[in-house]
Amino acid sequence: MNDLHRAEMADQELADAMDKLVIIKSAIYTSGERDPREPPPRQDTTGRLHLMGHDPRLPKMPNSPTLFDFFNLRFGPAIHMLQSARLALKNGCDAKVILACLLHDCSAAGFIRADHGYWAAQLIAPYVDEEVSFAVRYHQVLRFYPDESFGYKYPDSYIRLFGPNYKPEPYLDRAYEYCRNHKWYGTARLLTVNDLYSFDPNIHVELEEFTDIVGRNFRAPAEGLGFDNSPSAHMWRTINWPTRYL
Ligand SMILES: [Fe+2]
Ligand SMILES: [Fe+2]
Repeated sequence: MNDLHRAEMADQELADAMDKLVIIKSAIYTSGERDPREPPPRQDTTGRLHLMGHDPRLPKMPNSPTLFDFFNLRFGPAIHMLQSARLALKNGCDAKVILACLLHDCSAAGFIRADHGYWAAQLIAPYVDEEVSFAVRYHQVLRFYPDESFGYKYPDSYIRLFGPNYKPEPYLDRAYEYCRNHKWYGTARLLTVNDLYSFDPNIHVELEEFTDIVGRNFRAPAEGLGFDNSPSAHMWRTINWPTRYL
């Protein structure tokens, strides 16, 4: 069997699997594109079952998935996080800052963009030192507020993305004040300093460069992420199986 034939067989298997399944999108995937007050569009579900496990369109995750499995199979190109972690390493930051850099945008990469610092912090909180999840939570906030003493300026990219008149919401002002006066402000600020604004497509960074730091500082559950009954296990399961009906 040649490669083309194999690809055609895989396409056919996927098409057959899809014919047997009803796959629904959660409201959050479509809210805005459609009015969330309206009932979801009706589908003809005759003779088909609602998906309750693995989505055949996605690469299958191992039964006990690790953090790196999520990086490889569920997070979009993670090169931005990898390059940020590499920069923190090069700048001589400690393991907490390097780990925070490696994980900081995991929500934007594989889960939810809005309030991505908060979601990412919640995802990782059961497995990392509290200082790491604090930094990840507040990096989103601190990015809007310059601090010359760390050499951190308001990002040019934010002027391009949000326009020159964008003002952070009042909740961000309050969160910034809280973080500014916190004993771990410096850790969160160092994350923003190493959070690259533009990344270099020519610099390749392997996840394996951080195997040791992750091994020492991320408490990987034996059951796999999603199956350990931690306060964020359900969130990892949703990333693994994002389209289950229930
Ligand atoms: Fe971010
Ligand atoms: Fe980032």
